[in-house]
Amino acid sequence: MKRPEPIDKEIILDNTKYIESQTDKKGIIIECNDYFAEISGYSKDELLGQPHSIVRHPDMPRIAFKLLWDRIQNGKNLTAVIKNLAKDGRYYWVFTHFEIIRDINTKEIKGYRAYRKAVSKHIADILLPLYKKLVEVEKDGGMEASEKYLNDFLAQKGDDITIDNLMEEIHRFY
Ligand SMILES: Cc1cc2nc3c(=O)[nH]c(=O)nc-3n(C[C@H](O)[C@H](O)[C@H](O)COP(=O)(O)O)c2cc1C
Repeated sequence: MKRPEPIDKEIILDNTKYIESQTDKKGIIIECNDYFAEISGYSKDELLGQPHSIVRHPDMPRIAFKLLWDRIQNGKNLTAVIKNLAKDGRYYWVFTHFEIIRDINTKEIKGYRAYRKAVSKHIADILLPLYKKLVEVEKDGGMEASEKYLNDFLAQKGDDITIDNLMEEIHRFY
């Protein structure tokens, strides 16, 4: 499928609704709710069976998804702020909570589920410059360089600041 051409127009989300999806272990969408289809602009038929990167926005650094996958593949839940790309090229920011789905008997990871809700403009405004910088750093130095940049950025914020408590902090201000 051809990637949509991003346009600088935001889709404003209804903050009483969640965008939900479920994937297999590889990130292929196997279930989603109507609101996901409505906001992304894809029909459910177009979404199911596709990799979740179908809504990936080029403003998102690769390191963000590396951290995400490192976490969830290790069975840890996570919250992340993501800028997504709709079919018509518009964007929408989401506060995303990831959960692990395990086989009831073997306890092995079967897949993942994500619940997303609207992000206040204030938060998107804080994160966009960081994400843009990471994308830029990645263009020259790859993900090793962006990982280092992110770690330095967090270290500057304080001794014990990790990506998790940065997200918690953001959540508190939300
Ligand atoms: C449950 C789940 C939900 C995801 N939701 C999104 C999402 O909303 N937007 C996004 O860009 N990537 C999402 N991803 C990550 C994608 O699988 C993918 O790693 C990312 O889009 C980067 O694409 P790439 O790995 O092909 O570079 C999700 C992954 C999982 C497992």
